[in-house]
Amino acid sequence: MTPEHTPDSILIVDFGSQVTQLIARRVREAGVYSEIAPYTKAAEAFARMKPKGIIMGGGPRSVTDDDAPQAPAEFYEAGVPILGICYGQQVMAQQLGGEVQHGDMGEFGRAFLDIDQDCPLFDGLWQPGERHQVWMSHGDKVTRLAPGFRAVASSEGAPQAVAFDPERRFFGVQFHPEVVHTPDGGRLIANFARHVCGLAGDWTMAEFRETKIAEIRAQVGSGRVICGLSGGVDSAVAAVLIHEAIGDQLTCVFVDHGLLRSGEAEQVVSLFRGHYNIPLVHVDAEEQFLSGLAGVTDPEAKRKFIGKTFIEVFEAEAKKIGGADFLAQGTLYPDVIESVSHTGGPSVTIKSHHNVGGLPERMNMQLVEPLRELFKDEVRDLGRELGLPDAFVSRHPFPGPGLAIRIPGEVTKERCDILRRADAIYLEEIRRHGLYDAIWQAFAVLLPVKTVGVMGDGRTYDSVCGLRAVTSTDGMTADVYHFPGEFLANVATRIVNEVRGINRVVYDYTSKPPGTIEWE
Ligand code: XMP
Repeated sequence: MTPEHTPDSILIVDFGSQVTQLIARRVREAGVYSEIAPYTKAAEAFARMKPKGIIMGGGPRSVTDDDAPQAPAEFYEAGVPILGICYGQQVMAQQLGGEVQHGDMGEFGRAFLDIDQDCPLFDGLWQPGERHQVWMSHGDKVTRLAPGFRAVASSEGAPQAVAFDPERRFFGVQFHPEVVHTPDGGRLIANFARHVCGLAGDWTMAEFRETKIAEIRAQVGSGRVICGLSGGVDSAVAAVLIHEAIGDQLTCVFVDHGLLRSGEAEQVVSLFRGHYNIPLVHVDAEEQFLSGLAGVTDPEAKRKFIGKTFIEVFEAEAKKIGGADFLAQGTLYPDVIESVSHTGGPSVTIKSHHNVGGLPERMNMQLVEPLRELFKDEVRDLGRELGLPDAFVSRHPFPGPGLAIRIPGEVTKERCDILRRADAIYLEEIRRHGLYDAIWQAFAVLLPVKTVGVMGDGRTYDSVCGLRAVTSTDGMTADVYHFPGEFLANVATRIVNEVRGINRVVYDYTSKPPGTIEWE
């Protein structure tokens, strides 16, 4: 899995929490290398990595169950600091002689901690007597501390919300420091990594790149990899990284499904062929996609058709180059639904919520997904590290199914062309006003609704264009972006004047949840 050289590191033990990857992210933000291992393989990972610290994460089980997942007993004898979070705290308490009670009444969501004593996790951050917001999600709680531990902070539902053993440098926290709803959580984790474990905090994205390159080489061996480029940042970063790892064993296939934004195909081709000299097959599959989408109006049916057709095109191209053993994709962590299997469960299960949208259940290639543990902003950092032009790296996300999911109702070439023109005007104005980087994603949608208008002295009866712009940190939740007063009016005027087929423009004021970012 790892290169010969493992830097000073932290081992993160996965007990199945949905947010284990966020722990890794916080550790990376503290400038420290980490690896995640499922609890079943944690002993092996520990022996190989020789980490300077261990973080044991949360999980869905109760430590009071007969067959509850356990941490390897040798962890407690290794002389290495341990931070247990939620289930991790409870399992440590129980294994070391404390007591955990299975609760009917837990704490879920925002909670407040009363800081009672100093603790190295709180260094420079929290003082005794203060109260701080944290995020809890637990039913069970530690009711008797293991010998050597003392409680240093409490919450209403967890009297031992933070406890530590100063001798062995073991820490248990009932709350989740890894989530953003614990505002100081990242700094608590940084305190553990740097102050408690003594790590320097000088690990960088450059080292991540090296680690991934070694992993890709180990996974792929002398096999051939085909990488589907969608036009977006993620697949481009994945392709450049993989090319660095295995050179011309990689062939990129850029499928122009006719559902791209204006100028997108040209940009991708010139970046890959001109800038990187990466072998690129440019497949013009517009006809294949659009004819298959004729008459399809159901959003899931569109996604499934597009996913399936992508794979058919990939497989056909793979055959032409003499076969490929692997399909590379720029799947990010928020695209990944499973948590335990992510770090070593059985082979990857392909879900319909996928990088190119609705891949079929079975295909003949294994997946290579080097960005699987990263979040969008980290992928952008990695892209910059790999030398991708900033204008490309900082582009707004674009979904694999492309404009098809921005045209509710039937997708036709004519409607794609209308939407492309409106979208280009909208983005041009956003850029011209210097707003592009403040927005997570902005795009136009073309509604299957016609309204009456008047232009010149004539009546029009044309389509409605919706404009969407949101702010977000990871695409999981989003807020509406509030444009300055005149901006939208100006964009609406330009679109109606310049795009034949649209005579009305509306702005979408829905946050996520309850809406989603895309309309389908
Ligand atoms: P939603 O619409 O689910 O979108 O709020 C969240 C983020 O994911 C993008 N998105 C996709 N990206 N393939 C992708 O590569 C897809 O099938 C897909 N669906 C949505 C969307 O653009 C937004 O950034």
